[in-house]
Amino acid sequence: MDRDDLLATNIKITQDVCANIMQHSPEAIIMTVTNPLDVVTYAAMRCTNLERKKVFGMSGLLDSSRFAYFIAKEINCSVRDINAMVLGGHGDSMIPLPEYTTVSGIPLNEIMEKDTIDRVVKRTVNAGAEIVGYLKTGSAFCAPSAAIASMTEAILKDTKRIVPASVYLSGEYGLDDVCLGVPVKMGRNGAEEIIELRLTEEQTRELHKSAETVRSGISKI
Ligand code: LAC
Repeated sequence: MDRDDLLATNIKITQDVCANIMQHSPEAIIMTVTNPLDVVTYAAMRCTNLERKKVFGMSGLLDSSRFAYFIAKEINCSVRDINAMVLGGHGDSMIPLPEYTTVSGIPLNEIMEKDTIDRVVKRTVNAGAEIVGYLKTGSAFCAPSAAIASMTEAILKDTKRIVPASVYLSGEYGLDDVCLGVPVKMGRNGAEEIIELRLTEEQTRELHKSAETVRSGISKI
């Protein structure tokens, strides 16, 4: 199964869980971690009617951690020195952004050849499926749980981390009524602020294409 195959079952689970959250813990902040992530986040928004900063999906931090890991392996440096950015849907239409990725502040394209960057970008997009290929009967859990822990800590300790997450867009990046991975400031109130990066026309086109992929999932729920 790919992430989209999980849609019908997981939307039903999301509806049930959200109804219980609103009954028993209406003040909750909801971080979705279920695939297809961006569609599930949208469904959770709709089921709970919470303000958008209270409902977001863990996706971009997972994808950007993979992007950082693959870069670190290529240039044989510590992954701690890499700040990687991935936008878009959590799936084949995700957009690792080398232009917003640095190694100790050094722009990636100053330290890595273009064809290597392209290869690492491709591996990042496919990383979820790569791990399913190794595990056969399961999907990744180490990096997803580390990303969940980091985002939860940002909320509990109000650390104001800036991380990519799936949030409801209402005009940002020229997009409306869709959940998509973009940089947000994460603190005690959830996804407190959406940060708009300056994108090229090509990157904006890719982001809008990614939004269309998510919208096709939303149209099925
Ligand atoms: C992955 C699943 C968690 O990317 O979507 O591994």
